[in-house]
Amino acid sequence: MSKGKILVTGGCGYIGSHTIVDLIEHGYDVVSVDNLSNADESALAGVAQITGVKVKNHVIDLADREATLQLFREEAFTGVIHFAALKHVGESVHQPVRYYKNNLNSLLHVIEGMEETGCQHLIFSSSCSVYGNTEELPVTETTPRQQAESPYGRTKQMCEDILFDVCRVSPELQAVLLRYFNPAGAHPSSLIGEAPSNPASNLAPVITETAIGKRKEMMVFGDDYDTRDGSCIRDYIHVVDLAHAHTLALDYLRENRQASNCELFNLGIGAGVSVLEAIKAFEAVTGVKLNYRIGERRAGDVVAIYANAEKANRELGWQPRYDIQDIMKTAWAWEQKR
Ligand code: NAD
Ligand code: WQD
Repeated sequence: MSKGKILVTGGCGYIGSHTIVDLIEHGYDVVSVDNLSNADESALAGVAQITGVKVKNHVIDLADREATLQLFREEAFTGVIHFAALKHVGESVHQPVRYYKNNLNSLLHVIEGMEETGCQHLIFSSSCSVYGNTEELPVTETTPRQQAESPYGRTKQMCEDILFDVCRVSPELQAVLLRYFNPAGAHPSSLIGEAPSNPASNLAPVITETAIGKRKEMMVFGDDYDTRDGSCIRDYIHVVDLAHAHTLALDYLRENRQASNCELFNLGIGAGVSVLEAIKAFEAVTGVKLNYRIGERRAGDVVAIYANAEKANRELGWQPRYDIQDIMKTAWAWEQKR
């Protein structure tokens, strides 16, 4: 029997498509909405190959209030996982209005659609970027948020604040806010993975694109930080582990195990990996020598950030299974295939 009908917004995207696979494998029915601004529907063909289930995608812009409300009226959703957002930090600095309009309006319309149709369970994609340049490590959910480093990060802080305010006055809304650290890697089948329409800027795809020859070389942005090898430290979390956390969060709401109607969770493996360690891991698991140089520091980079994810381990029963080697291995297999 189905555990419910879930609307996955941004279902054709990177984390959304991996989550759809996990939801189907754990008994949920899924409908996707994606305006294809940073994806195409090929990810859902990959989902169908992996699961045998063809998921319907509605090509709707969630910033369009009427179209979004209409979708909620047409289908009775038991829950929503809201991934859809613009996510490029650098781009957001140059296009703040586009980012605020897209990311804030989409969330507001989703909330309105849920309120109007009595849909109660919401999982929201937040980000470690809400912590800004924090010095408290590892970061727990109670670590104070600092000023965000970009308009993108600020949209995530604002979306969190919107949900805090709405949950305060709407006890029927049950929300879980997931703060992802650095998602990377691909499904082990290599049938889905990260396929951005924009040029990649995140470390894992930059590494694989360099290795396959799409880029001549890559830069390590600084090796003079106060870290064990001088390069920045991050918490890289495999996208398959991340995806499963969403299923567990829905189960947690279905089983009414939440302490409040607005719960926050960090999702990371709880350990830092430096840029140079990530490169070494890639070279070790693939046997491919990477052409990299040490460059200047990148503006806006924090020195080190990694999660304390004990709350998710304890309350959601979430245990990441993959490490940086698995991330590099699956990212490389996907790069070679796509
Ligand atoms: P993605 O770009 O691959 O997926 C987002 C999808 O949403 C895209 O397919 C895009 O076409 C769609 N979309 C965007 N605006 C829309 C709109 N107005 N209406 C309908 N569809 C829309 O991104 P992702 O990496 O899968 O990220 C998913 C979520 O996780 C985002 O909210 C992102 O901010 C958050 N997040 C991502 C990372 C990361 O590094 N990938 C880290 C932390 C948080
Ligand atoms: C990781 C490390 C770089 C590229 C971003 C967002 C954050 C969240 C996750 C959405 C850094 C270094 C990178 C390269 C390099 N996203 N690097 N050479 O900046 O930690 O986090 O994605 O919510 O909000 O800011 O991720 O993958 O860009 O960088 O040396 O060519 O790799 O300096 O130390 P970041 P990243």
